Amino acid sequence: SSSLVIAVDGTSGSGKSSTSRGVAERLGLRYLDTGAMFRAMTWWLLSEGVDVHDAEAVAAVAGRPRIESGTDPLAPTITVDGVDVSVEIRSAEVNAAVSPVSAVPAVRTRLLDLQREVIGEGGIVVEGRDIGSVVWPQAEVKVYLSADPDARAERRAAEEGGADLASTQQSLLERDRIDSGRATAPLTMADGAVHVDSTHLTLDEVVETILALAGSAR
Ligand code: C5P
Repeated sequence: SSSLVIAVDGTSGSGKSSTSRGVAERLGLRYLDTGAMFRAMTWWLLSEGVDVHDAEAVAAVAGRPRIESGTDPLAPTITVDGVDVSVEIRSAEVNAAVSPVSAVPAVRTRLLDLQREVIGEGGIVVEGRDIGSVVWPQAEVKVYLSADPDARAERRAAEEGGADLASTQQSLLERDRIDSGRATAPLTMADGAVHVDSTHLTLDEVVETILALAGSAR
């Protein structure tokens, strides 16, 4: 299983992170959260005072921050220029700015290179929006994870310590709209991906579903 790559794409709050970490843990694989990389880039732009809605300004500086992801599924980390920003990247400010930033082609090119470097070492579960379609189309297992908006908002609000349900749902749907509509690497179901709807499944059931797919891919 050392070269196995499992791509888990899907909408915001569909359970990608918990599921991907669970699968990686069960199979002894590494784990890469590509959303955290886009969030780290966004956090850095905000901290530098860059206007995140100015695509040219964003593109001009996208090469500057050094972004590094830890790949332990039990303790994922993300650093920018050596500083751990794991907590900061989950803020409301980053939530609101990350989709416009992620639509900028220069941002995607930069992070694509970093992602491929990590994935190329093999044995990894990778979550994102475009892993099976663009980043690593040759992945042995590709999953497209979805869930009803109500279920997604409930899970995300619980994760965020009881945030307001309606505004959480609005924020998820707004990100989905931008992520699915952008010109470069939009969120889409990749060729060869298996669609798993997690609305009525427990985390364990989703993990088992992907483990079964991984078992038959070997
Ligand atoms: O997965 P997460 O919700 O943390 O991702 C945050 C944002 O990062 C997404 O809404 C999307 O704009 C961007 N993203 C992306 N491509 C990926 C992963 C995340 O554009 N592979």
